[in-house]
Amino acid sequence: MAILKIARMGHPVLRGIAQPIADPTAPDVRRLVQDMVETLADAGGVGLAAPQVHVPLRLVIFFVPAQRAAEEVPLTVLINPVIEPLSDQMEEGGEGCLSLPGLVGVVPRFSAIRYSGFGLDGKPIEREAYGYHARVAQHECDHLDGILYPARIQDFSRFGYAEEMRRESATEDAG
Ligand code: NI
Repeated sequence: MAILKIARMGHPVLRGIAQPIADPTAPDVRRLVQDMVETLADAGGVGLAAPQVHVPLRLVIFFVPAQRAAEEVPLTVLINPVIEPLSDQMEEGGEGCLSLPGLVGVVPRFSAIRYSGFGLDGKPIEREAYGYHARVAQHECDHLDGILYPARIQDFSRFGYAEEMRRESATEDAG
């Protein structure tokens, strides 16, 4: 296990389209996930995508802490994920990102989605997600298409350094 270096906004690996993983059960995929879990725990976020640790593969990990939503979501490993909105309804919410340390913004996301993909055991995963859970999944999967959350911000008056924004509003966890 190792703590990996996290790429920051501006690094080309964060702008590329990540490649599908041919075999989710491959030992090197498992090792990568172990390192990403350790890196996420060290950095203190709620999610991490493989391109953020300089690996351009379609793999994300995330969890929803109990204090964040009515339903806690345990650490989820999602390989080759696909997101499908369940309706056109959007909602705004605060986001941060480990690739933009210290910054937070208010980002519109689909309120309700279905996500699917594969776990490390190669078995399919399919879940419906709402609210914050849906937000985290959308944020992480965006990383696989080279999209960082500022690209989705509509109101830049609510984008800035968490230490400054905290003066007037709640801030968010980093993904
Ligand atoms: Ni992020």
